[in-house]
Amino acid sequence: MAAVTQLARYGERHIARGLNRLTNAVIKEGRGSYLHMEDGRKMLDFTTGIGVAGLGHCHPKISKAAADQCLSLVHGQCSIAYHEPYLKLIERLIPVMPHPSLDTFFFWNSGAEAVEASIKLARAATGKQNVIVMQGGYHGRTFGTMALTKSKTVYSQDVFPLMPGVFSVPFPYWHQCGLPSSTPTSELVQHCLFQLDLTLSQQTAPSDTAAIIVEPVLGEGGYVPAPTEFLQGLRKVCDKHEILLIADEVQSGFGRTGKYFAIERSGVKPDIMVMAKGLANGFPLSGIVSRKEIMDRQSPGTMGGTYAGNAVACAAAVACAEAFQEEKVLQNVEARSHELFGVLKGLQKDSQVGHHILDVRGAGLMVGVEFGSPSGHAHDKFRRPDAPKTLASRISKRCLEKGMFLLTTSVFDVVRFIPPLNITKEDMKKGTDIFSESVHEIVREG
Ligand SMILES: Cc1ncc(COP(=O)(O)O)c(C=O)c1O
Repeated sequence: MAAVTQLARYGERHIARGLNRLTNAVIKEGRGSYLHMEDGRKMLDFTTGIGVAGLGHCHPKISKAAADQCLSLVHGQCSIAYHEPYLKLIERLIPVMPHPSLDTFFFWNSGAEAVEASIKLARAATGKQNVIVMQGGYHGRTFGTMALTKSKTVYSQDVFPLMPGVFSVPFPYWHQCGLPSSTPTSELVQHCLFQLDLTLSQQTAPSDTAAIIVEPVLGEGGYVPAPTEFLQGLRKVCDKHEILLIADEVQSGFGRTGKYFAIERSGVKPDIMVMAKGLANGFPLSGIVSRKEIMDRQSPGTMGGTYAGNAVACAAAVACAEAFQEEKVLQNVEARSHELFGVLKGLQKDSQVGHHILDVRGAGLMVGVEFGSPSGHAHDKFRRPDAPKTLASRISKRCLEKGMFLLTTSVFDVVRFIPPLNITKEDMKKGTDIFSESVHEIVREG
């Protein structure tokens, strides 16, 4: 490992301790699938800034569009007038929405802000207050979204009370439900939909419930795709009780799962969809989309924000949407996903390490591998007391030493793959080689 440089030491001294990071090294440059560090290392980036730089770092077309926009209009404040990139972005997004009725937009900066905007809209549109969230779900760290986030206590520890009116129900993830990974999906789904029914009769009446918010692929909760039957079940419950279904596609959206938005895989139509991250390939931009009749239930002036829908970020997002089509990104996701799953499923069958891998799951290039280290949960019957400890975090650290960034996720022992969507076959092989070597080494070390 490279020495901690003077600049990094400055960061250690002057940056808030509440901000954690994978490494205390300094990034100097990002180019495509690689990050170049101040200490001279060139790192393969299988984190893409946590699912943001989907088309790689400093994509030439996107960076140029942003640079050009900087020289014509940086800040066209959205409560003063329309600006061109904002409108062009809507024009680009409408054709790729999961359903044609999703045609009315509001842009903001961060994912959490957009999630809050979706809740605000759901309350205003329904005249109801309560929100149902998924156990294991992650929606952000602002005061509103901390209340919705149920993936780890660390995000809201020490700062209660949070926003009231939030109820959580189980998500069909075997480990979360305390059932073996071999449990049939239909059984998991039935269990979770039954718990939802109970919640609506025991805790929050349908007449008090504005929305159910769900990530079509649980992100911080362990990279678990929501089964189609579950999303269909949520849709039915929402239709029956006039509750709005909100899809949080902040992490799973924009091609990450091989479709523009992960919910498309189920054919389920959300009432409100939240997007961010990959939308502008690194420029801060988020948004919500809904049907016009829902959006129009908010009075003018109730929504807005100084930087909301910034012109440079919108110009980058327009270029990003164009690059997606020009470069046939979704086809690349499919091909690279096939290779990635091939390697991971192969590892699961490997006689030396396979027995430590409980699950390989995901969609497209949003893929999780769950290990069987003792989880620290006293009643967890799936922990393997004989397994080496904290495999996921040790493997992530070993990958770092070998020149690749790879993140863990959830309170379980999971690593997550979020490589660039336009990653080459060669770089995918390089990344999976580093991962396989690291798994073998760490298991051997015990
Ligand atoms: C599903 C989901 N929703 C919301 C957020 C919050 O986004 P931001 O960090 O931009 O506020 C995230 C961030 O990781 C996320 O994954």
